[in-house]
Amino acid sequence: MPKIQKPGVADVPLMKALLDDAAARGYVLSRESHEIYENLRDFLICRPPSGGVAGMVALHIDGADLAEVRSLVVSTAWRGQGIGVMLVRAAVDEARELGIRRVYALTRIPDFFVKLGFVVIDRMDLPSKVFKDCSRCPMLPQCDETALIIETGLAPKTAAVGKALKGETA
Ligand SMILES: CC(C)(COP(=O)(O)OP(=O)(O)OC[C@H]1O[C@@H](n2cnc3c(N)ncnc32)[C@H](O)[C@@H]1OP(=O)(O)O)[C@@H](O)C(=O)NCCC(=O)NCCS
Repeated sequence: MPKIQKPGVADVPLMKALLDDAAARGYVLSRESHEIYENLRDFLICRPPSGGVAGMVALHIDGADLAEVRSLVVSTAWRGQGIGVMLVRAAVDEARELGIRRVYALTRIPDFFVKLGFVVIDRMDLPSKVFKDCSRCPMLPQCDETALIIETGLAPKTAAVGKALKGETA
């Protein structure tokens, strides 16, 4: 069973390749290697039993009360097996453990996040500083991202979701 864990520096080339591939398709913003190294502690990865990186996500803290789930990518070979859900749940768990009350996402796949308990909000309700990365986004002139948010206190924990995915009672 793949495990969600913190990455090490040796994982960065594979993480960069995952992000580059998804960024080329317009799913996420690209990140330079140095940005991944500098923010490595933001990331969680999914480690398959065979090694490597099956997926990744970042929890980026914006302030005392708010963090963003971003850079969510699951390798095409591993999609459809619940890894995306596990990664986002683990990031929300981490926010809760850090005492952060709300986690948001800016995304073109709002339905994925709605299934996880996020609710759609008006992007303009987010503090303006969260849009600082937008200047480097190729979609800036016609942004079609939806903003969603979840209260970490209301989100089920990863362990419970893992059981639910396996058909066990939480
Ligand atoms: C989105 C992504 C991370 C999902 O990863 P995954 O491991 O395949 O997702 P899961 O297996 O955990 O899927 C869980 C549920 O989400 C749904 N889902 C998966 N991808 C989806 C998508 N693109 N849009 C809407 N729902 C999606 C699945 O159908 C599944 O629903 P179900 O339980 O009702 O069957 C993966 O498809 C990916 O890397 N996409 C490219 C990058 C991207 O779009 N990132 C998001 C940026 S915000």
